[in-house]
Amino acid sequence: MNVIEVKDLKRYFTIYKRPPGITGIFKSMIKPKRIIKKAVDGISFNVTKGEIVGILGPNGAGKSTTIKMLTGILVPTEGIVRVNGREPFKNRIKNAMEIGVVFGQRTQLWWNLPLRESFDLIRTIYKIPTEIYNKNYKIFSEILELDRFIDTPVRQLSLGQRMRAEIGASLLHNPKIVFFDEPTIGLDVVAKQRIREFIKRVNEKSNVTVILTTHDMGDIEKLCDRIIIIDNGKIIYDGSINKIKEIYAKERVLVVDFEIEPVDFELTMGRVIKEEGTRKHILFNRDECSAPELVNYLSAKYSIKDFMLKETDIEHIIGHIYEHKFK
Ligand SMILES: Nc1ncnc2c1ncn2[C@@H]1O[C@H](COP(=O)(O)OP(=O)(O)O)[C@@H](O)[C@H]1O
Ligand SMILES: [Mg+2]
Repeated sequence: MNVIEVKDLKRYFTIYKRPPGITGIFKSMIKPKRIIKKAVDGISFNVTKGEIVGILGPNGAGKSTTIKMLTGILVPTEGIVRVNGREPFKNRIKNAMEIGVVFGQRTQLWWNLPLRESFDLIRTIYKIPTEIYNKNYKIFSEILELDRFIDTPVRQLSLGQRMRAEIGASLLHNPKIVFFDEPTIGLDVVAKQRIREFIKRVNEKSNVTVILTTHDMGDIEKLCDRIIIIDNGKIIYDGSINKIKEIYAKERVLVVDFEIEPVDFELTMGRVIKEEGTRKHILFNRDECSAPELVNYLSAKYSIKDFMLKETDIEHIIGHIYEHKFK
């Protein structure tokens, strides 16, 4: 069952620009140039219930604009967007009851109120039954350790604490879908882990659909079944992480520890990319040779103590994809 349907979705912005170098009185005399910015330029995808989808792409790719259309904050210029079968911008209140939203850069909590009171307000606004509220609060506070700062005004929370609070708050009313825009931006490793664990757990326990945008490959690898890569307002990849690894990661690194540093070291396949004493990092292409072939070749000529095949680095692959802009 599709909980999200997006078809040929577009959002253009009109920007007015004056030619550079114009100052003072001339400014008001010269008409600014009208530029159409195609922030989202015809994207299509569906999401089924319970998926965790990561939307990634470089800065300015159109990720936040997409989330804003999905959550009803922005009206599309063209195309179809349906969330839980409804057009989000036309049914904002109904839609809000069924979704949870967190924008990492902006708070949805009440800045001057203790967190507890923000939570109470959310409970009232969403008319959350006491039983559900108590149950959710108990689970959330356990994983996110909210009790430590529940009586602190939001403005005094650290970024990590605030994000934990925001994410917990967005799920109090048992939404069917949550949208997180950069939920781990600026957080330390421990806070990131806690948030990822929490998202994973809520997804597994309650089958909540999760859509998140991120720059963080850790978020992607730990959380997402599927990634959608956006660049320049267009989707350039939509699929599993494993598939992308398979297609684009033909290269592997074999790290070899030799008993002694080999003299007159020679290689007929692959190439050394790093050397640390008796250890060498050898890069090879899977199409050209296999790891066993390489190991056989090396062990026939030199005495090997140990070796390790390195996992493909998703960060490396994604960087490669941005550079090549494949379609
Ligand atoms: N309200 C707006 N007015 C004009 N341009 C905008 C507006 N919002 C976003 N943009 C532009 O649209 C593009 C996509 O922005 P955004 O969706 O925020 O990207 P991302 O979240 O992927 O970094 C950027 O070039 C941005 O400058
Ligand atoms: Mg953004």
